[in-house]
Order: sequence, then C-alpha cells, then structure tokens
Amino acid sequence: MASLVRAPERIETARLTLRRPIDRDADAIFRTYASDPEVTLYVGFPRHHRVDDTRQFLAFSDAQWSSWPAGPYLIERRDTGALVGSSGLKFDSPLCAATGYVLARTAWGHGFATEALGAMVDLARSCGVLRLYAICHHEHRASARVLEKGGFALEGTLRRYAEFPNLAPGTLCDVLCYSRIFEKPL
Ligand SMILES: CC(C)(COP(=O)(O)OP(=O)(O)OC[C@H]1O[C@@H](n2cnc3c(N)ncnc32)[C@H](O)[C@@H]1OP(=O)(O)O)[C@@H](O)C(=O)NCCC(=O)NCCS
Repeated sequence: MASLVRAPERIETARLTLRRPIDRDADAIFRTYASDPEVTLYVGFPRHHRVDDTRQFLAFSDAQWSSWPAGPYLIERRDTGALVGSSGLKFDSPLCAATGYVLARTAWGHGFATEALGAMVDLARSCGVLRLYAICHHEHRASARVLEKGGFALEGTLRRYAEFPNLAPGTLCDVLCYSRIFEKPL
C-alpha cells in the first residue's frame, strides 16, 4: 500500500484560508450555510435543522482526519476572517479521493469555489492521490462550470447514481462525473 502523506490542517490561497474544522465552529457552520435551503439544494447531505446535525458533521470530520491524510476543510476569507463555506477531500483509498464545495449565498460569484478547488487539487497531488473526482447533479451548471475551470474532465453521466435529499428525497438522480488524473505526486 502507498505510504500516506499527512495534509496540512491549514492552507492559504490568494484570498482564502482553508482549515480543519473544530468543535467551536458548529454554530457558525449551521448559521452560515448548512441550514440554508437554497445553499443545500444540490448537496448530498440533508440540510441541518439543528446545531446537533452540525455537530454530527464535525464528528464525521474528525473521523475522516483520523483515518486519512485529510478530510473536510472550512473556507474563510482572509480579508475579513469570515467563514464562507467548506470543501475537502474524501478518500476512497490512499490513491483515490473525491472533492466538493459548498459556499454561503453571500459568497457566490466571486470565484471562491474555483480558488478553493485549486487548493484541493494541489493538496490531493501532494498527498499522493492519482485520481481526484467530483460528482454534481446533471442540471447544476454552476458546479459543473467550477469543475471545468478547475481543469477537471467530464467522464460522463452516471445514471440514477445519487440521492439529493434536499431536492428529491427518496429518489436517485443522474450525476455528471468529473475527474483529474495525476501521473505522479506533486
Ligand atoms: C456552486 C457554487 C459552489 C459555486 O461557487 P462560486 O464561488 O460562486 O463559483 P465560482 O465563482 O468560482 O464559479 C462559478 C461559475 O459558474 C458560473 N455560473 C453560475 N451560475 C450559473 C448557471 N446557472 N449556469 C451556468 N453557469 C453558471 C459562473 O458564471 C462562474 O463561471 P465563470 O467564471 O466562467 O463566469 C456555489 O454556488 C454554492 O456553494 N452553491 C451551493 C452548494 C452547492 O451546490 N455545491 C456544489 C454541490 S455539487
């Protein structure tokens, strides 16, 4: 098995800080994006109805960080320090990971998702990931555009692949699958 390179718990990009979540972040995550019906329409997790739902996410995050080189990251603006969303890596194996992003409504349209995605690409490479992929609902143009801008190639449509619990609970929707393939670590 490939050796695991641990990721930094804090990353800076031009305008953003990405950092590992801690327990004290629960209220801010809940308020800023996880409880917002519009923000969570196309995400794979049920919208948070109470802060305890957010605490479960934080427990999941800690479990991921304990088992793998990285896990979820919160995204903050460097100029104001404000929390604007989250991203991260979710490892299927040491060589293969998925990524995604969710931003508060007030942070849409500034290129922040594209900037955070670039950081996740570099991070995945430096951790030894050879396949980094992302899926999005087949009609979610903004998310698909972010992946295209991030250099991801469209692999195809996975039919009836994922449930979007805030959009169409109890059904499976078609998704677009995008990936970046790395021949060798950064
Ligand atoms: C999707 C999301 C992450 C995009 O974040 P963002 O920071 O606004 O994205 P960026 O500014 O980096 O880029 C968005 C791109 O999509 C384009 N776009 C936005 N809405 C669009 C639409 N309805 N149709 C086509 N393109 C669209 C923008 O014009 C921009 O492309 P451009 O730079 O070529 O003009 C953000 O809207 C979000 O968090 N949504 C809620 C959570 C979510 O759905 N996450 C993805 C789950 S797969």
